[in-house]
Amino acid sequence: MSLTILIVDDEESFRKNTENYLAARGYEVSGVGTLAEARENLTKNSAELVLLDVQLPDGYGPNLLYETASMPSRPPIILMTAHGDIEMAVDAMKNGAHDFLTKPIQYVQLEKSIQRANELVSMRRELQHFRQVQKTRDFITGNSLAMKQVINMAQRAATASVSVLVTGETGTGKEVLAKFIHQSGPRSSKPFIAINCAAIQPTMLEAELFGYEAGAFTGADRKKHGLMEVADGGVLFLDEISSMPLDMQAKLLRVLEERALRRVGGTVLIRVDVQVLAASNRNLKTGIKDGNFREDLYYRLKVVDLHLPALRDRKEDIPELVGYFVRKCNAQQGMNVRDVTPRAMEKMIEYRWPGNIRELSNSIERAMLFCNGEVIDLADLPDLD
Ligand SMILES: Nc1ncnc2c1ncn2[C@@H]1O[C@H](COP(=O)(O)OP(=O)(O)OP(=O)(O)O)[C@@H](O)[C@H]1O
Ligand SMILES: [Mg+2]
Repeated sequence: MSLTILIVDDEESFRKNTENYLAARGYEVSGVGTLAEARENLTKNSAELVLLDVQLPDGYGPNLLYETASMPSRPPIILMTAHGDIEMAVDAMKNGAHDFLTKPIQYVQLEKSIQRANELVSMRRELQHFRQVQKTRDFITGNSLAMKQVINMAQRAATASVSVLVTGETGTGKEVLAKFIHQSGPRSSKPFIAINCAAIQPTMLEAELFGYEAGAFTGADRKKHGLMEVADGGVLFLDEISSMPLDMQAKLLRVLEERALRRVGGTVLIRVDVQVLAASNRNLKTGIKDGNFREDLYYRLKVVDLHLPALRDRKEDIPELVGYFVRKCNAQQGMNVRDVTPRAMEKMIEYRWPGNIRELSNSIERAMLFCNGEVIDLADLPDLD
C-alpha cells in the first residue's frame, strides 16, 4: 500500500520538486503553503505522514505537533529546519516529531526518514486491522442491566480462569459468550475447542473427549488425541451438556477433579489443564430432579453461573443489536443500508423473538436483501407475529 504524504512549505519551488520526486517513487503526495491549509488538509484527507517546515507565513510549524497528537491517525511528522536550529529540533523531537532534517534537504536522507516513518504507519495499520477483527468478535451487550451484569461476571470468570455454566434459551448467545470469555482471559492465545454433546453419538463421546489408544475398539487402528488434550492450556466448550449420558458425566467429573485423563484403552494418566465452559438451554436442575444429570457435576461446572436473558426480556437492547447486524451485513455483503424506519423498528421491539438473537440476526440479513438498498421498512421484514 502506498503512503499518503503532505508537504507543508511556503517555498513553492521546493514543494513542487519534492512532490515530483516522491510521486515518482510511488508516494501519494500533496502540498500546501500555510498552517491553515495544512490543518484543513489533515482533517479532510488524513495524510499518513507530514513533511513540515518550521517558519510558515501564518505561524510556527511545530505547533502542528500538538494538534495532530490527538488525531486518530496521528501522522508522523518530519520537521525541516534551517541550518543550525538544533535547539528547536531537539525540542520538537521531545514533543513527538518523528525526525528532523536540515535544509537544504538531501533527498537520500529524506527517503530514509520516510521509510522509517512508513514502518511505523504500517505497524499502526496492522494494529488497527487487528482491532477491527477483534471488534467483530465483540459481544454486544446493549444497555440492559442484566447483560451488563453478565458481561461483568464473564470478565471476572475469564480472568480467574474458572468453570462457567452458561444457560439461556436457544439463540441467546451462549456460544458467543463462551468465545468472549476465552478471548478475555489469560488463555486467549491457546485453543478454544467446542464440542456439541448432543451431536455426537453417546458411545463415541468418550473417545472424542479423551482420545484413544490403538486397538481400543474396532476401527481404532491408531492412537488419537482427544479434544480435551487438544484444548490443553486453553478452553473446552461443552455445548448442550444436558445431553451427556450419565456414565460419561461421571467420567468427566473425575477428569475435572483429577486434572488428568486416561485415553480409551489406555493406562497412562495424562495431565490436562483446561478451563471448562458448559452450556445448556435446558434447565439442569430439572435434569437433576429427574435423575438425568449428576448434581456433583452440576456444582463442579457452575463455579460461575451466567444466565443469558431472552431477547424479549431486554427489549431496550434491540435497537443496538439491529444497528450492529446492519453494519455487519453491510461490511460482509458490500451493502450500504443506512437506516431502519420507525415502524419497522417498533415491530422488531414488539415481537417475541422465540429464536432470540439468532432469529433477529437472520431477519435483518433477509430484510437487507429485500429492501431498496438504503432503508429497511416494515414490508422488508419477515412475518413477525
Ligand atoms: N451478544 C451478541 N452479540 C452479537 N451477536 C450475537 C450475540 N449473541 C448472539 N449473537 C448472534 O446470535 C447467533 C446465535 O448465538 P449462539 O450460537 O451463541 O446462541 P446459543 O445460545 O448458543 O444458541 P443455541 O442454544 O441454539 O445453541 C450468533 O451466531 C450471533 O450471530
Ligand atoms: Mg449454541
